[in-house]
Amino acid sequence: MTNVHDNILGLIGNTPMVRLNQVTKHIPAKVYAKLESSNPGHSTKDRIALHIIEAAEKRGLLTPGSTIIETTSGNTGFSIAMVSIIKGYKCILSVSDKTKPEKIAYLKALGAKVYICPASVPADDPRSYYEVAKRIAKETPNSIYINQYFNELNIDAHYQSTGPEIWEQTDGKITHIFGCTGTGGTLSGSAKFLKEKNPDIKVIGVDADGSILKTYHETGKVDESEIHSYQIEGLGKNLIPGALLFDKIDEFVRVNDEDSAYRTREIALREAIMGGYTTGAVVQALIQYAQNNTLTEKDIIVLIFPDHGSRYISKVYSDDWMAEQGFSKNGFSSYDAVLKTEMEK
Ligand SMILES: Cc1ncc(COP(=O)(O)O)c(C=O)c1O
Repeated sequence: MTNVHDNILGLIGNTPMVRLNQVTKHIPAKVYAKLESSNPGHSTKDRIALHIIEAAEKRGLLTPGSTIIETTSGNTGFSIAMVSIIKGYKCILSVSDKTKPEKIAYLKALGAKVYICPASVPADDPRSYYEVAKRIAKETPNSIYINQYFNELNIDAHYQSTGPEIWEQTDGKITHIFGCTGTGGTLSGSAKFLKEKNPDIKVIGVDADGSILKTYHETGKVDESEIHSYQIEGLGKNLIPGALLFDKIDEFVRVNDEDSAYRTREIALREAIMGGYTTGAVVQALIQYAQNNTLTEKDIIVLIFPDHGSRYISKVYSDDWMAEQGFSKNGFSSYDAVLKTEMEK
């Protein structure tokens, strides 16, 4: 038998790459999207869940019936819940109250126990989803805390899989990689591998308006005045993640909620790719980058598309939600009239 797996975990990794033909056509470079939604849990986080849990198994930290605990905006939770089912572990997750009800229902459908915590409190507040996960981990016997923000195996998962896949898929011709940074693991691990192969590859991190990562990269300082709440999930932080290798990143581009939302919708309409909100963010970052940097037809740009749009139907794919945010299509000022008409239908 060919292309048959013992269980769902055999489908993790080896995600496809597709060329973008419309949304970035004004940029002379060839632009490819690495579709992490093709993982069985529909996001890049499947890779780290499997890698970190199997590393813990090798160290004898997990036995049947152990509990796996994590803080997650959703995607890591789906992946841990999926791996836990197959391997026979319990799964407890703390999530931010920005997380939509359908994501929480999805996590529960995969057998996870979910704690909902306020997003607006500082990371060290006992009510924050970081502190809640830490407390549960301390109180639960026979458990491990994945701790994706500070776990170097998060980087290693991508160093061992995502980075080599991108290198092979582009025949070593990649010149730029763009990735959203939440924990930083996806971009850091991929960049570490790719820079070892070719130190000239440019690595561009995508940060959110309201997050501290871009300024920290540029100044080495946290500017608390930059912190404000924003809608894009999984991108940017109000703390400095240990899984983010700042020295592997050449530059950060900061994007806002509105531009990223419209860009997500545009990618669906023009490329027929239903991506998550950060898919729009990473394309928006390339478009902003191209306004300030010279790109040529020789450049091969890879954008990591972290997850699938089906998780955002009542958010960025809902016209009502877009209107509630006060988004005014200002983000479309640079787009062409055809797209505006399509959106208004
Ligand atoms: C939707 C989405 N995009 C991007 C990211 C960023 O990935 P990483 O944590 O590897 O930096 C995440 C992480 O949570 C995410 O959930």
